[in-house]
Amino acid sequence: MPGKTCNVVVLLSGTGSNLQALLDSCKPDGPVRICAVISNRADAYGLERAKAAGIATAVLEHQGFTGREAFDTALMALIDGFTPDLVVLAGFMRILSGGFVRHYQGRLLNIHPSLLPKYKGLHTHQRALEAGDGEHGCSVHFVTEELDGGPLVVQAVVAVAAVDTVQSLAARVHHQEHQIYPLAVRWFAEGRLRLGEHGALLDGQPLAASGHLIRP
Ligand code: GAR
Repeated sequence: MPGKTCNVVVLLSGTGSNLQALLDSCKPDGPVRICAVISNRADAYGLERAKAAGIATAVLEHQGFTGREAFDTALMALIDGFTPDLVVLAGFMRILSGGFVRHYQGRLLNIHPSLLPKYKGLHTHQRALEAGDGEHGCSVHFVTEELDGGPLVVQAVVAVAAVDTVQSLAARVHHQEHQIYPLAVRWFAEGRLRLGEHGALLDGQPLAASGHLIRP
């Protein structure tokens, strides 16, 4: 969508450092406009970051709903009220229903703290250390119905040091997350990135299975 503003809704559950990286990367005359931040937790610090940046916030707590579908239906209505071109999951710690994922097909991105397809799910840094991996990292991908399994857009590799702890490794991976998420969102907003029938396309060309790979 060259020349057009890309409205982005960010979903998060926690600290929101990835939201902050996105906010910091938005230029007033750039294509990305974060129009709302929505959380399933009222105490998510990311909401404070959004408010400080003058961005609309909303909270939808899942405890009030009888099942995943009911919550996701209400969440979709809330999101769609902001007419987003792109929905960005930035530490949104909920499994999404198939209906939700299909509704946002091709306009739903997620960031995950591992080199997918390795270490889907939780405790990724600990699992990489326990496996003795020499490399770890993070991934941005389009969301599909397979948990942490959609087509990869970009990955950043982090070298694992013998002295690394979960905390030290997490900090370096987090730093890379803050580089690659704004990059992927900008590509999408510029109309360069899209989900094709067989995977992610950048400038009309299929990306490698790993997505665009950034090495130290
Ligand atoms: C990030 O490390 C992100 O990769 C992870 O949650 C963290 C949120 O941090 N997401 C997942 O694990 C999703 N499966 P932040 O709140 O500081 O952006």
